[in-house]
Amino acid sequence: MACQDGVMTDRADVRIRPFEADDRDGVLALASRLTEWVAAWREPPAVLRAAQGWVRDSMAAAGQDDHACFVAAAGDLVVGFVTVCEQRHFTGAKDACVGELAVSKAWAGRGIARRLVRTAETWAAGRGLPFITVATGAANTPARSLYASLGYREEDVQLTKPVAQTR
Ligand SMILES: CC(C)(COP(=O)(O)OP(=O)(O)OC[C@H]1O[C@@H](n2cnc3c(N)ncnc32)[C@H](O)[C@@H]1OP(=O)(O)O)[C@@H](O)C(=O)NCCC(=O)NCCS
Repeated sequence: MACQDGVMTDRADVRIRPFEADDRDGVLALASRLTEWVAAWREPPAVLRAAQGWVRDSMAAAGQDDHACFVAAAGDLVVGFVTVCEQRHFTGAKDACVGELAVSKAWAGRGIARRLVRTAETWAAGRGLPFITVATGAANTPARSLYASLGYREEDVQLTKPVAQTR
């Protein structure tokens, strides 16, 4: 058991369940966490706009058959969320793909992200999808460590170089 923000909590107090309409503001409030490990050369306001857009789109799609969003709830409080959907790999195979994952800073380090990702994996398994993929920032040490500990391996690596401008 731990004391966080004056509330005594333990693992049993945090429930992972499907997203509901009332969770919208709580999930959106976590969108800014998705900006934390984006490459420093990207414009912060544009990164935040994009992150909020991804989260809004994922919540809007959560009712569709091939999309899902799960929240970690401590009572009425949304303390984390994950989105997952079906995505076509270039080989033609259907994969599951984790879209966004975030946990409130106040609730970090309690295994909530691990439980959320495992829930996304269970969703994928229930749909017969053989692989689950996720893209994350190269510098995002916490996320990379989380995924590595859950058995994820690098498949593609994106490289970036600034272009010397000629106009
Ligand atoms: C990454 C994130 C989701 C982890 O959430 P969390 O609930 O604190 O993570 P957990 O408690 O489930 O930790 C599971 C594992 O993740 C890794 N991890 C989590 N936080 C870490 C940190 N600050 N530094 C290094 N590794 C970390 C560890 O491997 C940890 O296992 P351990 O506890 O046995 O060491 C959270 O830090 C977050 O929301 N970050 C910002 C958003 C983000 O980066 N999302 C991922 C984009 S794909």
